[in-house]
Amino acid sequence: MTARLIDGKAFAADLRVRIAREVAALEKRGITPGLAAVLVGDNPASQVYVRSKGRMTQEVGMNSFEHRLSADTPQADLLALIGRLNADSAVNGILVQLPLPRQMDESAVINAIDPAKDVDGFHIQNVGRLATGQKAMVPCTPLGCLMLLRDQMGDLSGKSALVIGRSNIVGKPMAQLLLRDSATVTIAHSRTANLPDLCRQADIIVAAVGQPCFVQGDWIKPGATVIDVGINRAGDRLIGDVDFDTARHVAGAITPVPGGVGPMTIACLLANTLTATARANG
Ligand code: GUN
Repeated sequence: MTARLIDGKAFAADLRVRIAREVAALEKRGITPGLAAVLVGDNPASQVYVRSKGRMTQEVGMNSFEHRLSADTPQADLLALIGRLNADSAVNGILVQLPLPRQMDESAVINAIDPAKDVDGFHIQNVGRLATGQKAMVPCTPLGCLMLLRDQMGDLSGKSALVIGRSNIVGKPMAQLLLRDSATVTIAHSRTANLPDLCRQADIIVAAVGQPCFVQGDWIKPGATVIDVGINRAGDRLIGDVDFDTARHVAGAITPVPGGVGPMTIACLLANTLTATARANG
Protein backbone atom coordinates (compact mmCIF):
# COMPACT_ATOMS: atom_id res chain seq x y z
CA MET A 1 0.00 0.00 0.00
CA THR A 2 1.13 3.54 -0.63
CA ALA A 3 -0.49 6.20 1.51
CA ARG A 4 -2.36 9.14 0.07
CA LEU A 5 -0.40 12.34 0.77
CA ILE A 6 -2.39 14.91 2.72
CA ASP A 7 -1.48 18.23 1.09
CA GLY A 8 -1.73 20.73 3.94
CA LYS A 9 -0.02 23.38 1.87
CA ALA A 10 -2.79 23.30 -0.77
CA PHE A 11 -5.55 23.02 1.86
CA ALA A 12 -4.13 26.03 3.75
CA ALA A 13 -3.81 28.06 0.53
CA ASP A 14 -7.45 27.32 -0.27
CA LEU A 15 -8.51 28.26 3.27
CA ARG A 16 -6.66 31.58 2.97
CA VAL A 17 -8.48 32.31 -0.31
CA ARG A 18 -11.83 31.71 1.43
CA ILE A 19 -10.74 33.93 4.35
CA ALA A 20 -9.66 36.70 1.95
CA ARG A 21 -13.14 36.61 0.38
CA GLU A 22 -14.79 37.06 3.77
CA VAL A 23 -12.36 39.86 4.66
CA ALA A 24 -13.33 41.61 1.39
CA ALA A 25 -17.01 41.28 2.33
CA LEU A 26 -16.31 42.82 5.76
CA GLU A 27 -14.39 45.63 4.07
CA LYS A 28 -17.65 46.67 2.35
CA ARG A 29 -19.14 47.18 5.82
CA GLY A 30 -16.13 49.33 6.79
CA ILE A 31 -14.57 46.58 8.93
CA THR A 32 -10.93 45.47 8.58
CA PRO A 33 -9.87 42.62 10.89
CA GLY A 34 -6.66 43.39 12.77
CA LEU A 35 -4.15 40.94 14.25
CA ALA A 36 -1.51 42.09 16.73
CA ALA A 37 1.58 39.92 17.22
CA VAL A 38 3.86 40.52 20.18
CA LEU A 39 7.41 39.21 20.10
CA VAL A 40 9.59 39.51 23.18
CA GLY A 41 13.33 38.90 22.68
CA ASP A 42 15.16 37.66 19.64
CA ASN A 43 14.55 33.90 19.42
CA PRO A 44 15.38 33.23 15.74
CA ALA A 45 12.58 30.68 15.19
CA SER A 46 10.03 33.07 16.76
CA GLN A 47 11.23 35.89 14.52
CA VAL A 48 10.65 33.72 11.44
CA TYR A 49 7.13 32.73 12.66
CA VAL A 50 6.10 36.29 13.47
CA ARG A 51 7.38 37.61 10.15
CA SER A 52 5.48 35.02 8.13
CA LYS A 53 2.34 35.51 10.25
CA GLY A 54 2.52 39.24 9.48
CA ARG A 55 2.97 38.66 5.76
CA MET A 56 0.05 36.21 5.49
CA THR A 57 -2.18 38.47 7.59
CA GLN A 58 -1.65 41.26 5.07
CA GLU A 59 -2.06 38.90 2.11
CA VAL A 60 -5.65 38.10 3.14
CA GLY A 61 -6.40 41.82 3.53
CA MET A 62 -6.21 42.08 7.33
CA ASN A 63 -4.25 44.69 9.27
CA SER A 64 -1.10 43.35 10.88
CA PHE A 65 0.32 45.08 13.95
CA GLU A 66 3.73 43.97 15.17
CA HIS A 67 5.14 44.79 18.59
CA ARG A 68 8.75 43.87 19.32
CA LEU A 69 10.06 44.16 22.85
CA SER A 70 13.59 43.50 24.05
CA ALA A 71 14.36 40.31 25.99
CA ASP A 72 14.87 42.24 29.26
CA THR A 73 11.46 43.98 29.13
CA PRO A 74 9.80 43.94 32.58
CA GLN A 75 6.63 41.84 32.67
CA ALA A 76 4.64 44.92 33.78
CA ASP A 77 5.49 46.63 30.47
CA LEU A 78 4.25 43.64 28.49
CA LEU A 79 1.04 43.52 30.56
CA ALA A 80 0.53 47.26 29.92
CA LEU A 81 0.91 46.68 26.16
CA ILE A 82 -1.63 43.83 26.30
CA GLY A 83 -4.00 46.15 28.17
CA ARG A 84 -3.74 48.72 25.37
CA LEU A 85 -4.31 46.06 22.68
CA ASN A 86 -7.34 44.72 24.60
CA ALA A 87 -8.84 48.23 24.57
CA ASP A 88 -8.04 48.94 20.91
CA SER A 89 -11.08 48.33 18.70
CA ALA A 90 -8.84 48.04 15.58
CA VAL A 91 -7.27 44.93 17.13
CA ASN A 92 -9.46 41.82 16.89
CA GLY A 93 -6.81 39.22 17.61
CA ILE A 94 -3.78 39.24 19.90
CA LEU A 95 -1.02 36.69 19.99
CA VAL A 96 2.01 36.72 22.22
CA GLN A 97 4.67 34.53 20.64
CA LEU A 98 5.95 31.79 22.94
CA PRO A 99 8.35 30.99 24.49
CA LEU A 100 8.72 34.12 26.62
CA PRO A 101 11.97 35.11 28.35
CA ARG A 102 12.60 33.47 31.74
CA GLN A 103 11.63 36.47 33.90
CA MET A 104 8.06 36.28 32.57
CA ASP A 105 5.20 34.22 33.96
CA GLU A 106 3.72 32.75 30.78
CA SER A 107 0.27 31.99 32.18
CA ALA A 108 -0.07 35.45 33.78
CA VAL A 109 0.74 37.01 30.40
CA ILE A 110 -1.60 34.77 28.39
CA ASN A 111 -4.44 35.23 30.87
CA ALA A 112 -4.11 39.03 30.60
CA ILE A 113 -5.31 38.82 26.97
CA ASP A 114 -9.03 39.48 26.44
CA PRO A 115 -10.37 35.91 25.90
CA ALA A 116 -12.44 37.19 22.95
CA LYS A 117 -9.20 38.33 21.24
CA ASP A 118 -7.17 35.25 22.24
CA VAL A 119 -6.70 33.86 18.72
CA ASP A 120 -4.19 31.28 20.01
CA GLY A 121 -6.87 29.78 22.26
CA PHE A 122 -4.43 29.57 25.18
CA HIS A 123 -6.37 31.69 27.72
CA ILE A 124 -7.63 29.61 30.64
CA GLN A 125 -11.23 30.61 29.78
CA ASN A 126 -10.87 29.27 26.25
CA VAL A 127 -9.21 26.08 27.52
CA GLY A 128 -12.13 25.58 29.92
CA ARG A 129 -14.71 26.41 27.28
CA LEU A 130 -13.25 23.88 24.85
CA ALA A 131 -13.12 21.23 27.59
CA THR A 132 -16.77 21.82 28.53
CA GLY A 133 -18.15 22.02 24.98
CA GLN A 134 -18.82 25.76 24.93
CA LYS A 135 -18.00 28.18 22.13
CA ALA A 136 -14.24 28.77 22.39
CA MET A 137 -11.22 30.09 20.54
CA VAL A 138 -9.45 26.87 19.56
CA PRO A 139 -5.63 26.54 19.35
CA CYS A 140 -4.49 26.82 15.74
CA THR A 141 -2.35 23.72 15.22
CA PRO A 142 -4.89 21.19 16.53
CA LEU A 143 -7.67 23.05 14.69
CA GLY A 144 -5.67 22.63 11.47
CA CYS A 145 -5.17 18.92 12.18
CA LEU A 146 -8.92 18.50 12.77
CA MET A 147 -9.73 20.19 9.45
CA LEU A 148 -7.36 17.83 7.61
CA LEU A 149 -8.82 14.79 9.40
CA ARG A 150 -12.42 15.75 8.61
CA ASP A 151 -11.46 16.40 4.99
CA GLN A 152 -9.84 12.96 4.70
CA MET A 153 -12.24 10.87 6.74
CA GLY A 154 -15.52 12.75 6.90
CA ASP A 155 -17.32 11.81 10.11
CA LEU A 156 -14.85 10.95 12.90
CA SER A 157 -17.55 9.51 15.15
CA GLY A 158 -16.55 6.17 16.70
CA LYS A 159 -13.04 6.22 15.22
CA SER A 160 -10.23 5.30 17.58
CA ALA A 161 -7.75 8.15 17.81
CA LEU A 162 -4.34 8.13 19.46
CA VAL A 163 -2.79 11.50 20.31
CA ILE A 164 0.90 11.15 21.12
CA GLY A 165 1.94 14.18 23.18
CA ARG A 166 0.28 16.02 26.05
CA SER A 167 1.30 19.66 25.54
CA ASN A 168 -1.11 22.49 26.23
CA ILE A 169 -0.55 23.83 22.71
CA VAL A 170 -1.19 20.63 20.73
CA GLY A 171 -1.79 17.32 22.53
CA LYS A 172 -4.45 18.27 25.08
CA PRO A 173 -6.57 20.53 22.81
CA MET A 174 -6.24 17.95 19.99
CA ALA A 175 -7.70 15.30 22.28
CA GLN A 176 -10.57 17.64 23.24
CA LEU A 177 -11.37 18.39 19.59
CA LEU A 178 -11.39 14.70 18.64
CA LEU A 179 -13.61 13.95 21.62
CA ARG A 180 -15.96 16.75 20.57
CA ASP A 181 -16.24 14.95 17.19
CA SER A 182 -17.13 11.72 19.04
CA ALA A 183 -13.87 9.87 18.38
CA THR A 184 -12.64 7.44 21.06
CA VAL A 185 -9.51 9.19 22.25
CA THR A 186 -6.34 7.93 23.92
CA ILE A 187 -3.59 10.33 24.97
CA ALA A 188 -0.09 8.84 25.04
CA HIS A 189 3.17 10.48 26.05
CA SER A 190 6.82 9.77 26.81
CA ARG A 191 5.95 7.52 29.81
CA THR A 192 3.30 5.46 28.02
CA ALA A 193 3.90 1.70 28.08
CA ASN A 194 3.35 -0.43 24.96
CA LEU A 195 3.05 2.52 22.62
CA PRO A 196 3.49 0.38 19.47
CA ASP A 197 0.49 -1.76 20.52
CA LEU A 198 -1.65 1.33 21.18
CA CYS A 199 -0.69 2.70 17.76
CA ARG A 200 -1.70 -0.56 16.06
CA GLN A 201 -5.27 -0.13 17.36
CA ALA A 202 -5.69 3.45 16.14
CA ASP A 203 -7.63 4.57 13.06
CA ILE A 204 -6.12 8.04 13.60
CA ILE A 205 -2.64 8.86 14.92
CA VAL A 206 -1.68 12.44 15.73
CA ALA A 207 2.04 12.55 16.55
CA ALA A 208 3.17 15.62 18.53
CA VAL A 209 6.08 14.34 20.62
CA GLY A 210 8.95 16.43 19.25
CA GLN A 211 11.20 13.44 18.54
CA PRO A 212 12.35 12.79 14.97
CA CYS A 213 11.09 9.57 13.32
CA PHE A 214 9.61 8.39 16.64
CA VAL A 215 6.58 6.56 15.24
CA GLN A 216 7.67 3.59 13.13
CA GLY A 217 5.85 2.22 10.09
CA ASP A 218 5.31 -1.20 11.70
CA TRP A 219 3.45 0.44 14.62
CA ILE A 220 0.73 1.71 12.28
CA LYS A 221 -2.57 -0.06 11.58
CA PRO A 222 -2.83 -0.63 7.82
CA GLY A 223 -5.00 2.10 6.29
CA ALA A 224 -4.82 4.45 9.30
CA THR A 225 -4.70 8.23 8.88
CA VAL A 226 -1.48 9.70 10.27
CA ILE A 227 -1.08 13.38 11.15
CA ASP A 228 2.51 14.39 11.86
CA VAL A 229 2.82 17.60 13.88
CA GLY A 230 6.59 17.25 14.41
CA ILE A 231 9.01 19.78 13.00
CA ASN A 232 12.51 18.58 13.88
CA ARG A 233 15.62 20.09 12.40
CA ALA A 234 18.16 17.63 10.95
CA GLY A 235 20.94 19.71 9.41
CA ASP A 236 19.18 21.81 6.80
CA ARG A 237 16.22 19.39 6.53
CA LEU A 238 12.98 19.29 8.50
CA ILE A 239 11.74 15.90 9.61
CA GLY A 240 8.58 14.87 11.41
CA ASP A 241 7.82 12.72 14.47
CA VAL A 242 6.80 9.88 12.15
CA ASP A 243 9.26 7.78 10.15
CA PHE A 244 7.72 8.82 6.85
CA ASP A 245 9.64 6.34 4.67
CA THR A 246 8.29 3.29 6.52
CA ALA A 247 4.89 4.77 7.48
CA ARG A 248 3.91 5.68 3.92
CA HIS A 249 3.80 1.99 2.98
CA VAL A 250 1.31 1.16 5.75
CA ALA A 251 -0.85 4.22 6.38
CA GLY A 252 -3.92 5.01 4.27
CA ALA A 253 -3.15 8.72 4.35
CA ILE A 254 -0.31 10.73 5.87
CA THR A 255 0.84 14.34 6.17
CA PRO A 256 4.33 15.08 4.84
CA VAL A 257 6.84 17.25 6.73
CA PRO A 258 7.15 19.95 5.55
CA GLY A 259 3.93 20.77 3.70
CA GLY A 260 1.45 18.98 5.96
CA VAL A 261 0.34 20.44 9.30
CA GLY A 262 2.78 23.41 9.31
CA PRO A 263 0.98 25.62 6.77
CA MET A 264 -2.37 24.95 8.48
CA THR A 265 -1.31 26.68 11.71
CA ILE A 266 -1.08 30.20 10.29
CA ALA A 267 -4.17 29.69 8.10
CA CYS A 268 -6.12 28.74 11.25
CA LEU A 269 -4.73 31.78 13.07
CA LEU A 270 -6.26 33.91 10.32
CA ALA A 271 -9.50 31.93 10.54
CA ASN A 272 -9.60 32.57 14.30
CA THR A 273 -8.96 36.30 13.73
CA LEU A 274 -11.88 36.36 11.30
CA THR A 275 -14.08 34.54 13.84
CA ALA A 276 -13.09 37.01 16.57
CA THR A 277 -13.87 39.94 14.25
CA ALA A 278 -17.25 38.50 13.31
CA ARG A 279 -18.15 37.93 16.98
CA ALA A 280 -17.02 41.48 17.91
CA ASN A 281 -19.23 42.94 15.16
CA GLY A 282 -22.35 40.91 15.90
N1 GUN B 1 5.13 29.11 19.86
C1 GUN B 1 5.07 27.90 19.26
N2 GUN B 1 3.83 27.68 18.76
C2 GUN B 1 3.11 28.77 19.06
C3 GUN B 1 1.77 29.13 18.79
O1 GUN B 1 0.97 28.41 18.19
N3 GUN B 1 1.38 30.36 19.25
C4 GUN B 1 2.23 31.18 19.92
N4 GUN B 1 1.76 32.35 20.34
N5 GUN B 1 3.48 30.88 20.18
C5 GUN B 1 3.91 29.67 19.74
